[in-house]
Amino acid sequence: MDYVQRRENKVVFYAPNIEKYGDIYHTPVFYNPLMEKNRTLSVLLLKALGVSGLTVCEPLAGTGVRGVRYAVETGLVNRLILGDVSSKAVELIRKNLELNGIDGEVYNEDANVLLHRLERTCDVVDIDPFGSPAPYMQAAFRAVREEGVICATATDTAVLVGRYWRKCLRRYGSLVKKTPFYIELGIRNLLGYIARVAASEDFAIYPLLSYWESHYFRTCVAVVGGARDADDMFNKLGYVEYRDRYRNVRRYPNSYTSGPLWIAELGNPLTVHKMANYGPHSEFLRLLEEEYVIEVPWFFRLPEFAVNGRSPTLKEALARLAEAGIYATRTHMASDGIKAEGNYGDLMRIFL
Ligand SMILES: C[S@@+](CC[C@H](N)C(=O)[O-])C[C@H]1O[C@@H](n2cnc3c(N)ncnc32)[C@H](O)[C@@H]1O
Repeated sequence: MDYVQRRENKVVFYAPNIEKYGDIYHTPVFYNPLMEKNRTLSVLLLKALGVSGLTVCEPLAGTGVRGVRYAVETGLVNRLILGDVSSKAVELIRKNLELNGIDGEVYNEDANVLLHRLERTCDVVDIDPFGSPAPYMQAAFRAVREEGVICATATDTAVLVGRYWRKCLRRYGSLVKKTPFYIELGIRNLLGYIARVAASEDFAIYPLLSYWESHYFRTCVAVVGGARDADDMFNKLGYVEYRDRYRNVRRYPNSYTSGPLWIAELGNPLTVHKMANYGPHSEFLRLLEEEYVIEVPWFFRLPEFAVNGRSPTLKEALARLAEAGIYATRTHMASDGIKAEGNYGDLMRIFL
């Protein structure tokens, strides 16, 4: 059997029979069950935003499950536009729309061509490609309307965290050095890139949801139009200097800095609070809410506070910081990480 029926939350859909093909990379149409959380959080975001009559475009749709879930589970979609370069994917998307009784426009077209044609008509554009979203970002900002939302998944995490720094420079135009908080650098690198592309179209971005999961980064940003907002947004771009465990934000690069990066909020605490109230992944979303409140970019790793070779435990560290009146929280980015309203020196003095 080439295809089997699967279920994600309220949606039943046809997906390739992964067992038959051995792994997800050899199936006729791409479907990754590990991305279910990514899709669920995207649905919750739209529900939390609560705007109806939406035009949603997913130009790299695979089986179409994401778009179908947007339509079925939010009830907020008025026009659903799905595309894929693969004709097999397009055939499957049509079947999956029919199976769920959803009307949708389906295009067998390159994502960039489709997005450019949709100029300023989409409320939501979801870029979920193989690897980097960079080749599609300019077109995504063409397709989106003012006050719309753009979501992007990046599975080229090794590039974004700077492990392949030359490729990072080519693809994202940023230089990223080795640091203990490389996951946060990766997210901020992606957001920094998206912000610069937004600015080139006279848009500013306001991140609603950004997170890391073992093999990808995901961000969803609100898009606001106007050269003035775009100009102001440049205050949210900068460089991080990592030196002797201190993290300093710099306006301009030097030989210790990584950047340009997004140095402002990673998400909207109120939005993720609303998302958490729906139930699925609520623990994860509550942690994001706590993290988003902290304005200081860059988390710390517990071994950075070791005294006489002993690192504090997470519980000890959070208790000591609370006692000292410093707001701190765990981070989803590392099991031995903390985010805190303070610099390395402030924190180290508390652990000594
Ligand atoms: C990661 S998969 C999409 C998965 C899907 N968004 C989901 O949530 O299940 C990427 C898809 O993009 C398609 N694709 C690759 N390059 C493309 C392009 N230039 N334009 C449109 N689709 C493309 C592939 O055929 C593949 O189906």
